[in-house]
Formats: sequence, C-alpha cells, structure tokens
Amino acid sequence: MQVEAETVMCGIAAIISKNFRNVIPKLVRMLKNLEYRGYDSCGFAFLDGTSLVVAKAKGTIDNFVKKSGILKQTSDIGIAHTRWATHGAVSDTNAHPHLDCSGDIAVVHNGIIDNFMELREELERKGHIFRSETDTEVISHLIEHYYSQGKSFLEAIKMAIRKLRGTYALVILTRHDGDKIFFARNGQPLMIGVGNSEIYVASDIPAFLEWTKKALILRDGDIGFVSRNEIYIENVINPDLGMPEPIEVPWDPDQAQKGEFPFFMLKEIYEQPDAIQRTIMSVLHKAEGIVDDILNADFIYIVGAGSSYYSSLYAQYLYARWGLRTMAVIASEFEDIAGHVVDRNDIVFAVSQSGETFDTIQAVKIAKKRGAKIISLVNNMGSTLRMISDKSIVMGAGPEIGVAATKTFSTQIASFIVILKVILDAQGVDYEEQMKSLSMVPRVLSEKMKHFDEKAMLIAEWMKTKTDAFFLGRGLGYPIALEGSLKLKEIAYIHSESYPAGESKHGPIALIEKGFPVIEIILNDKNYDAMIAGIQEMKSRGAMIISLLPEGDQKASELSDHIVEIPHMHEEVMPILYVVPLQLLAYHVAVKRGYDPDKPRNLAKSVTVK
Ligand code: M6R
Repeated sequence: MQVEAETVMCGIAAIISKNFRNVIPKLVRMLKNLEYRGYDSCGFAFLDGTSLVVAKAKGTIDNFVKKSGILKQTSDIGIAHTRWATHGAVSDTNAHPHLDCSGDIAVVHNGIIDNFMELREELERKGHIFRSETDTEVISHLIEHYYSQGKSFLEAIKMAIRKLRGTYALVILTRHDGDKIFFARNGQPLMIGVGNSEIYVASDIPAFLEWTKKALILRDGDIGFVSRNEIYIENVINPDLGMPEPIEVPWDPDQAQKGEFPFFMLKEIYEQPDAIQRTIMSVLHKAEGIVDDILNADFIYIVGAGSSYYSSLYAQYLYARWGLRTMAVIASEFEDIAGHVVDRNDIVFAVSQSGETFDTIQAVKIAKKRGAKIISLVNNMGSTLRMISDKSIVMGAGPEIGVAATKTFSTQIASFIVILKVILDAQGVDYEEQMKSLSMVPRVLSEKMKHFDEKAMLIAEWMKTKTDAFFLGRGLGYPIALEGSLKLKEIAYIHSESYPAGESKHGPIALIEKGFPVIEIILNDKNYDAMIAGIQEMKSRGAMIISLLPEGDQKASELSDHIVEIPHMHEEVMPILYVVPLQLLAYHVAVKRGYDPDKPRNLAKSVTVK
C-alpha cells in the first residue's frame, strides 16, 4: 500500500443541537456552503443513539447525498468534511472522517502531519490496524492509544496533538464522550458559530452564516469542545490566553448564497458596485492606523499570490507615481527575492482574500523573523494572516465563494487607492480628484454592468473555440491584463498569457497568426500612443484585436475587431472598470464551453499548501 501525506485543502463542518433536534440536513448544508474549499470527496460521522455512524465516498456532495441517502438519517450531533487532494489518491477509503481501530473515534482534518510516517510505524508496532493511506488516520489511532490508558477524552487529544508535527484543524466525534464535539487548531482555520439552538464548528464563516453571525475565531494552540450548554477552550501554547472574544460577523447571509444567479462567480461580479462602496467606507476608517508605519518605513514589500499579487502590482505602479518605495513580490518567491534583505525598518504588506494562502503566510513568517512589520489586507476577518499581522485591514467585499477572485480583486485595488489617499492626506498632498472618481465607480459600474455583460457574451461566442490568447497592457493597464488572462485560463481553460505590451515584440509576437486573439487594455494615459503602435504591429500579423478602450476613442476603435468602451474617469482609478468586462468574458467563455466557473478543475479557493 502506498502511504503518503495527503497535502489536502479541505472544509470542515460540525454541529450540535442544543435541544436534541435532527442536525443532518444542516450538516449537509454546511458542507455545501464549504464546497468551494474542496470537491474531490466528502464524508460524515454522527451518533445514532450510542453508535458512531460513518458515511463517506469520493465525488461531489450532491452525488453523495443522492446515493447515500444521508438525509434519511437523524442525529443531533455530527461532523463532516469535504476534501480537495493535491497528493494521495482520491478514493472512498481516503475520504474523511478517519476512525481508530475500534471505530469509536472519528476525526476530520485539514492540514498536513509531517511526521505521520514515523507515528504510523510506531502505532502499527503497537498493533493498530490502518485502513487508509492518509496522514490523518494516525490522529484517531493516537487518541485511541492515550484514551485506552485511562485519560479523559480531552486529555487524550492533548497528548495526541503533542506528538504531531505539522498543521491541523481537527474536529473529533466519539461515542466515548458523545455529548461533545472536540476540536484543536494549529496553522489551519477553524471557528465556532454560536446559534440560538445549535453550535457550529467550521473552517470558514460562510458554513454557518445563514444561522448565526456570532463567531469565535480559534487561535493556534486552541483545543476544547462544544457541548449543548458549554463552549470550552484552552490554549496549549499560551495557557494564560482566555477564551477568544466573540465577534459579530458583518456579512449578510444572502451574500453567501447564489440567489437567482446561476453561478457564484456571476453573482460576485455583479456585486462589485456594492462591494467597492462598502470597501471604500471600511478602509477609509481603518487606513489611518497604518499611515505612520508606512511613512516611517524604508521600503514596502507588497506580497500576494495569484490575483492578490496582481492587485499588489497595481499598487506598486500606483504608489511609485507618488514617490513611495514599494515592490510587489509573488509570495512564493519572497524568500529568494527579499529573504536576505528585508529588515526591521521595512514593511511587508501582505495581501490575501482568504488570509490562509500558504505562500503568503510563509513570506510573512520569513519577514517577521527578520523583524519587519507586517500589515495585511484581507477579506476574511477570521483568517490566520490577520492573526499573525501587526496590523490588519479587513475589506468590506463580503464572502467570495467562486474560486475565481472577482470582487475581491477590484476591492483590493479600491483599498490601495483609499490607503494612498490617507497617506497623501497626512503629507498634505491633494488626492481629491482620484477619490472623487473612486466614489463614482459603484454608480458607473451599476449603470454599465448589463452593457459589459452583453458585450462580453458576444465576444465570448467568438472566443469560445480559440485555444490561445494574449492580454496586453502598459503601466496600470498591465496588472489588469494579467488578471484578465488569469481569469480566462483558470475557468475557461484557454491557454492565455499576459505581457507588458512593449515586451510582446521581444518574442511573444512570433506566435501571432491569422485569428489569434489579442486583448488590449488601452488606457487614456501617457502610454496611449505606444499601445496604438503595438496594436498596429499585432494587426499587421493577422491578430484579432479585442480592445477595452476609453469611451469615444475613434483611433483604437478603427484598429479593433471587437471593442468594449469604458467610461472616462481619473486614470489612476479607471482601470478598476476595465477588469469587469474581462471577468465577464472569462465567465461567458467558460459557460459556453460547458464548464462550471465556480469549480475550476484542479483548483481550490484557498491554497493552503506549499
Ligand atoms: O486568498 P488569496 O487572495 O491569498 O488567494 C491567492 C490566489 O490563490 C488566488 O487569487 C487565485 O489565484 C485565484 N484562483 C484567482 O482567481
């Protein structure tokens, strides 16, 4: 049997009814609400009287629910798991929960146990029989081992986790102590939702948002249980830490539901006017707290992955115009780029929607070790990144469920603009015109959304059969081109690359032949003439030109096969508008090609692995 650490990203859900009502339908619902965290396999464990029942299989939650008849079961306490594997086979036996030898202890886990192989060998020598290839299974056997020595169940869990090296969010159900759901956290997110008639434990707030907004965010080292009338938490790293303070989640439950939209991605694209509006207000209030840090720093590294890196790059271009010394760094490259030079006079500005991205957290840990101050910009208020930062700004984008970042990309850019305004205010520099433009973005976007959607649908009809595309832009248009290209490749599976437009003539242009799609981000700025010259070069080699251009721009229109006109506003703000038609283009191409844009293959919403 091949045995490997699973390297999984997962969703964990658990629920206990305070008044002995059936929780299985809600448990299924919680798991569905977390499906964006993984969709390779799923599983449930619940108590039926004093018996522990486990049902699990590979495949989607919907298929599992249909085939297993889980909704016919009843129980007032249960745990569940949805899994996304990057290593290790996707199979029924590898699906969580994982049991001990007796079948009395069920464990669901998010994270990686690095030393599981040696623990497994040790346990096998003691006679434990393993059923799966996973690292998680050692946890149930370890707890069984300590519990059999006469410890309390909580003590047995504590002793077990002392043996673990790695990261975990754990939820455990046992018939030995069947009125409780046990949990432990180290390096992976876990939170408790406190409802009127139920208590929930989950990897993320959207899992329980439809029933309660009151949450406790667990910290590394927290271990405890929830029962019908008690929430018990102690911290094994710092025993002096009391209970975490309950928070009131400022999200609306509807934000975590699709409503009348066919996909979360489309809903979240349409939510951008509201999300940007909320973000402007919320960041404006919080940015003052970081101004001195930024002005006193020698250098600012802005670090992110994927779309969060592209918004960081936007910030680099923008802040450089105003004399701020910044560099955007891809989180996974941070160690090599800055690991030896970042120091205590620098700031690392970590940008992440989820606040759980492994690469970003790793970069932050490296910078912290060298004494740099950490400021984070996150969307998820209960995130690890927020907890390990010196200061943190939470955007007001609301929950983003679609795997592709949409509203969180535009709100990250809006956040950077607002932060710049507050910095410039402190220096007595006028930034009012840009802020006026930003405040108009929500209205302009609302008015234009339908038009952008129709245009994108038309262009998608033509794009859907293409195999490759280029996205080109200059200056502030380049990060937007990168983001448009990422969207098309990740959800429509069209091979797509993005270059600074000037760079495209140093090699990429060799690929251009008749009908090759080139998407041009044409801003009304100093780069305009160079963009036009580049389009002519592409066109003369047969490229099909799709231009996003300022409204009324005749010159670029005449050179283009398709155009989307973007309303005028200040050039530092206007690029936010350009990203929306690009998101819609990727969405429509994906749907026309028959793909589910919310669940792109091989991808999960939070990438919590190396
Ligand atoms: O949660 P984060 O912002 O840290 O996520 C970073 C990337 O994983 C994320 O932006 C990813 O590239 C998305 N799939 C982009 O749509």
